[in-house]
Parts: sequence; structure tokens; C-alpha cells
Amino acid sequence: MDSLRIRRPDDMHLHLRDGAMLRAVLPATARVFGRALVMPNLVPPVALPREAAEYRDRIYAALGPGTGFRPLMTLYLTEETRPADLQAAHEARLVTAVKLYPAGATTNSASGVRDMDRVRPALETMARVGLPLCVHGEVTDPDVDIFDREARFIEEVLDPLRRAVPGLRVVMEHVTTKDAVDYVSGQRDMGATVTPQHLMLDRNAMLVGGVRPHYYCLPILKRREHREALRAFAASGDPRLFLGTDSAPHPTGAKEAACGCAGCFSAPVALGCYAQVFDEMGALGHLEAFASENGAAFYRLPPNEGTVLLERTEAARIPPPLEVDGDTVTVFDPGRAPGWQVKETA
Ligand code: DOR
Ligand code: ZN
Repeated sequence: MDSLRIRRPDDMHLHLRDGAMLRAVLPATARVFGRALVMPNLVPPVALPREAAEYRDRIYAALGPGTGFRPLMTLYLTEETRPADLQAAHEARLVTAVKLYPAGATTNSASGVRDMDRVRPALETMARVGLPLCVHGEVTDPDVDIFDREARFIEEVLDPLRRAVPGLRVVMEHVTTKDAVDYVSGQRDMGATVTPQHLMLDRNAMLVGGVRPHYYCLPILKRREHREALRAFAASGDPRLFLGTDSAPHPTGAKEAACGCAGCFSAPVALGCYAQVFDEMGALGHLEAFASENGAAFYRLPPNEGTVLLERTEAARIPPPLEVDGDTVTVFDPGRAPGWQVKETA
């Protein structure tokens, strides 16, 4: 098979930022994806319905006319979030999900949640009205090793939370471990996303022979056996798993620094990267469900109209860095050109 036409996909986990960065990175996503679930970790965070509406309008303004792309907005859960605001934002179809960042877990998460008991009323309201929760699944205890933080989150936070609030639909974002795969498999009311970098790379790629800051993201890349578990889960066609790039642009200077930022800017090459992984696994037949159906079904949205045509190629190249505000944004390069690229959209 040298080309593959699939229904237009959705990116169910995306960082678009704001201002000049938003204008620079948005076209790469809007060209390929029909919709994207837009993360709310701006500074200050998108925590109120009014802020989500204003951010949505800035995204549409940056998009310009003539594209069918639709941002799906999220709200940032804080200990001050009012349950009635969540219900109203859901009923107005303003937001598609609410994002839980444990305080301090990652970029711009300082306003996140410290005490899960303080958000229980918000979670109960979400379960009642059918508004899903997206979680950044890492504990933040400084004594827990960074490579163990996802597994510990499942045991200490996620499973107790799901037992305490039955019926709450939860997406475990950017899964990185066999522990996450084992937990999500077979569960009701659960979804999961996985990034290109976690399917393609393990921690050796980031750390052997020199440190590669453009592979540094959170949750951090894990050892090989975890990557193998993620690839097998994707190749199994499990309907709980769907596409969420976690494409997270930072200025190149902020990544190639003594204390570099976490995030891989993968949007321009992401769909080709996923296609390469599914191809390597002999699972191209499951790519369309992963990219274009499972996420929409989880969020109870109709699938997109339109298609994208992917082609197998030896000529794919990683695009040059984007110019933004006197710096650049470096595009994620998995180390070998992806074997697939988007040829056209219809
Ligand atoms: O690597 C990451 N970058 N992980 C996150 O959870 C946040 C993201 C960002 O916003 O830069
Ligand atoms: Zn993210």
C-alpha cells in the first residue's frame, strides 16, 4: 500500500498558545486536522467560560476565512472552579472538556490542583452532565522519580478518583507507560491519547550520546519496553485510544537552554509520524479509527466530513524551523524522515 485516504482526523490534545505563536503554529494543524482539543495552559490559564470564549475567538481570528477547522475548547480546572460555570459552559456547547493539571506537573501548571477533595463537587457535576475530564497523569511529589510519576498517578490519584466519581468520563492524556496501557484497557468511561514521540522514541533517543532537548517533554520519554507496549496498544485497534499530538511549541532558545522547556512541536509532521508507526506495526487498517473516529466518538461528536490522502514517500523532509518573534520554533524530528506524508486534503 503506497497511499491511504482516511476521513479528516482530529487532534484531541494540542497546545496552540496565543498571539504571534498562535498565528505561527495554527496553520500546520488547520491544514490537516478538522478539529483540535485546545489545551488551556496559557498564562494566566483559561479557567473561566468567558476566557474560553475569548480564546476561541482569538483562534478564529488567527485562522482567517476559508478553513473548516474548528477549535474544541477546554477549561483549566482549579480549586476555585465553580461547578455551575462548568455546567453552563457545557450546556452552551462552549467547552468540550475540562483539564486537570496536578499543580507543578508541567508547563504553566502552577494554578493546577493540589487537593483533589477540593474539586470533587466540580467532578461530580461533570459526571452528571456528561462533561469529560482530561488528565495530565503524573504525581508531583518531589520524592517520586520522574520516570515513575505516571504509574504512581494511576494508583494514587486516577483510580481513587474514578471510584469516587463513578460515571465521570476520563481521558488519560499522552500515555507513556505499560502501566497506563494495562490500566486503560478494558475500562469503561475511559479514553487515552498517545503522542508521536512516545510511539517513536524511548529515553535512550533523548539521552545517549548527548542530551537532545527537542525530545524533552512531559511525561518524559520512558524505557523501550514501555514504548513497545504503547505501539502494541495502538496496533490492537483498541477504541479507547485516539490521536492527540500534544504538539507544544516553545522558542528554540527556550528549549536549547541550561533549563530547557518541556514540549515537542510535532504538528507539521504528526500525521505522517503516526502513519509510519501504524505501518511498521502492520496496522495501517486501524489508523483511520485512531485518527478520525475514536476521539470523536468519545467526545460524542460527529466524525468530520472530508478526507486526507497520505502517501508513502522516501522524500519526506522535516520542515525548517518557523520564525516567531525574533526566535524560531524547531519542528519535531524523530531522527529519520517519516515514511508517510499528507499529499492532499479534500
Ligand atoms: O511536554 C509538555 N509540554 N507537556 C505538557 O504537559 C505541557 C506541554 C506544554 O504546554 O509545553
Ligand atoms: Zn499537553
